[in-house]
Amino acid sequence: MPTGDEHAQTLWHGRFERGPADALMALSVSLAFDQRLAADDIRGSRAHVRGLLRAGILTAEEERAILKALDQVGQELVDSSFTFEPSDEDIHTAVERRVTEIAGKVGAKLHTGRSRNDQIATDLRLFTKRAIVGVVGRILDLQQALLDQATAADNTYLPGYTHLQRAQPVLLSHHLLAHGWALSRDIDRLFDARRRLDVSPLGAGALAGSSLDLDPELCAAELGFAATFDNSLDAVSDRDFVAETMFAITMLAVHLSRLGEEIILWATDEFGFIELADDFATGSSMMPQKKNPDIGELVRGKSGRLIGNLTGLLATLKALPLAYNRDLQEDKEPLFDSLDQVDLALHALTGLLGESTFDYERMKAAADTPEVAATDLAEFLVSRGMPFRDAHSVVGGLVRESVREGVPLAELVEDHGSLGVDALHLLEEGVAVQRRRTRGGGGPEAFGPQLERYVARVGADRARWSEAL
Ligand code: ARG
Repeated sequence: MPTGDEHAQTLWHGRFERGPADALMALSVSLAFDQRLAADDIRGSRAHVRGLLRAGILTAEEERAILKALDQVGQELVDSSFTFEPSDEDIHTAVERRVTEIAGKVGAKLHTGRSRNDQIATDLRLFTKRAIVGVVGRILDLQQALLDQATAADNTYLPGYTHLQRAQPVLLSHHLLAHGWALSRDIDRLFDARRRLDVSPLGAGALAGSSLDLDPELCAAELGFAATFDNSLDAVSDRDFVAETMFAITMLAVHLSRLGEEIILWATDEFGFIELADDFATGSSMMPQKKNPDIGELVRGKSGRLIGNLTGLLATLKALPLAYNRDLQEDKEPLFDSLDQVDLALHALTGLLGESTFDYERMKAAADTPEVAATDLAEFLVSRGMPFRDAHSVVGGLVRESVREGVPLAELVEDHGSLGVDALHLLEEGVAVQRRRTRGGGGPEAFGPQLERYVARVGADRARWSEAL
């Protein structure tokens, strides 16, 4: 049973004859994970304390005493000299308790006109605003690694695939930048989520605002928020911003899993397109010959975990009545976990991609089979006036015959009345890729402008990022 002392230390003890049972505290306590919000909690409290001064609730002297105590608590948390007590249910309780220990009686005024409901919403928004910037920085690093490999690849081409079957040749740089553009959209989504969450809930109180002369707008400005809440019920219960941020990083993780999967495939003996750097690959405890693409696999695996975190949060939010409900405490662990995991994944994947070596010759050889020029042969017939459906059928027939009879496709093309020697050059090495020249296409002519656009886009995103730092 909790002692009377512990009872006196809860934030709500006045109403209760007995303190909380251990079983309740064990379920309720969130300190282990919301400690992470300590710096934001102190920032939020500082803004609130200044608001209390403006409202005439604190004297200048009292304000100074509380701010000084908050500074000290912040320092103690940074240098790990802060001692948590068993009664510290969450970071808000711990900070307030310590402020009161340091500042004395005046500490009891800190929570005037405020609830942990608007406090936690404020903390989490401050945290998420900053966390998003961190993720974007890591994405930019991966985009740079893709760009570096794309530049080094020069005019190397490989088969592009559909259904994982060789389809048409594309430049390796084009293939790499396909991943890069997806990452640009992820950055955009993250900034977009950040713009929408940039609203201060401080001043909403428990759910309905305050009878005291507090000014939420001044608090918002002081905390660097772009706007203030319009509805106090919404302010304390809205977790859209967590869900939206988690969707953006889950989508990012899904993109990373696709890149990871290709690295896994490309590192197989069957493909042999990439040689993993020793320090970014793992061995087998039993089979001495193995060199495993564990980074790609972990990235692939973690995307599943992030999808779980996102759907878990949405399930928590579903059908919650207004306004604050304790269920909302379940928002933090999935968010923190998703942020941590995607950070690890981005960092490792960037290293893996940057350090690995592509086998350009093998890629080219895989793309230089005559069959990958089949579409070009059909388009050759189209240029001679044949309807595409007929041309498709003619070339399909030649490929079928070549496979069935074991006759080289070139021979059949040469002997064909509508194709003949004029069409033979289409089967030469490196020709098919040159011909994909429309905007955004996979050949060298189209790639130049694409590269320019990509470099400009990454540069603009980098500028947005450094502005948000
Ligand atoms: N630890 C709580 C959370 O994360 C803080 C809010 C508690 N509010 C309350 N009414 N019990 O949501």
